[in-house]
Parts: sequence; C-alpha cells; structure tokens
Amino acid sequence: MSGRFITLEGIDGAGKSTHLSALAQRLSAGGTPVLCTREPGGTPLAEQLREMVLHAPMDALCETLLVFAARRDHLLQSIEPALGRGDTVLCDRFTDASFAYQGGGRGVDVEVLSRLERWVQGTRQPDLTLWFDIEPARAAARRSLSRSADRFEQQDTSFFERVRAGYLRRITSAPERYVRIDASAEQEAVWRQIVGALEVRSW
Ligand code: TYD
Repeated sequence: MSGRFITLEGIDGAGKSTHLSALAQRLSAGGTPVLCTREPGGTPLAEQLREMVLHAPMDALCETLLVFAARRDHLLQSIEPALGRGDTVLCDRFTDASFAYQGGGRGVDVEVLSRLERWVQGTRQPDLTLWFDIEPARAAARRSLSRSADRFEQQDTSFFERVRAGYLRRITSAPERYVRIDASAEQEAVWRQIVGALEVRSW
C-alpha cells in the first residue's frame, strides 16, 4: 500500500509555506505519520543542491539538471521509502515547479522537462496538488514585506507571469490532480479552502 503524496505549489509570495505545518498537523490527526518536506531539498545532498540553485549564478539548463538531481536523491532516500511505509508525504513544491519555473519562467523546452521527469521519477506523481494561485503583482507586494530575495525572488513580475502561465499549462494537462486555492484571500479563508479540498476526499 502506498501512502498519500500531497504537494503544494504556487509562485513565490503566494503564502503556501504559511499553511504547511497546520496542514501536516491536520493530516497526522488520524494517526498516519506525515513526512513534511520540500524541494529542492529534503535530504543532505538535495539541501546542498538547493543552496546552489537558489544562490549560484548558472544557466537555465544547469538549474534544471540540479533541481532534477536533487529530486532524484529526495525520491530515493526519503519520499519513496515513506510512501512505501504507508506514510503521508507533504512536500512544499515538486516537479510542477520545474515546469513552471524552468519551463515557463526560464523557457526550458517542455520536452526536455518531460523526459527528465520520466527518467527521474518513473510514474510517480502526487495524489493531490494544492495550487496557491495569486496575481504576480500581489505576490510581489507580499514578498517585499519579508525576507531577502533569492535568485528567483529577485525576478520581475513578468517572470512570475510566465511561471504562473507554466503552472496553468501543466494543470490543464492533468486537471484531476489539482485543486486551485485562491491565495489572494485572507489567511483564514485560504485555510478553509485547504480543509475543503481534504474533506471532499474524506482525508
Ligand atoms: P520556496 O519553495 O519559495 O522556499 P522559501 O519559502 O524558503 O523561499 O523556494 C524554492 C525556490 O526554488 C522557488 O523560488 C522556486 C524554485 N524551484 C524551481 O525553480 N524549480 C523547482 O523544480 C523547484 C522544486 C523549486
């Protein structure tokens, strides 16, 4: 039996990380252990790769190869073993982010991304993806209130328009896996949408 694999996606500043621990808590309330993790990252090697991807100058293909290398290690060392035990895996970003950021944002060929996807993860896909959707200008305003910006967060609004379009294209290709969360709503309203997505699945 495989555990549930749930991912969170959205442009920087959409607010997905705000709800991560509450979501993990709600999912574990039924007694199933929850692995709460993130990409790029989630293993010692993948966290090292994350540092490079977020801070070292590189071209789009190099960036793509590093996020998929990190994903490979994360799947082998952490995600697949957890799902194999029947645990729930809650992951802050996964392959949809590669299609959105490297594909939409940086212009990497979708064929290249699809090939890497099959190569790195076989048929493994999330069971549910919560897509935190927000206007890029609004997300930029939120980002400006917080932390110092990494290589992605330094990009302009047109980059995030392309990332958002990348998410939309990806979602259109397999809509049943996604629930769109209106992330421009206030925090409590966003949380209600998340709970609603679980409740319709009796999770
Ligand atoms: P993010 O998830 O926003 O973490 P934090 O809240 O700590 O900033 O940061 C991860 C960044 O990595 C984000 O800007 C998107 C980027 N990213 C990619 O470009 N491709 C990928 O495949 C993944 C997983 C992330």
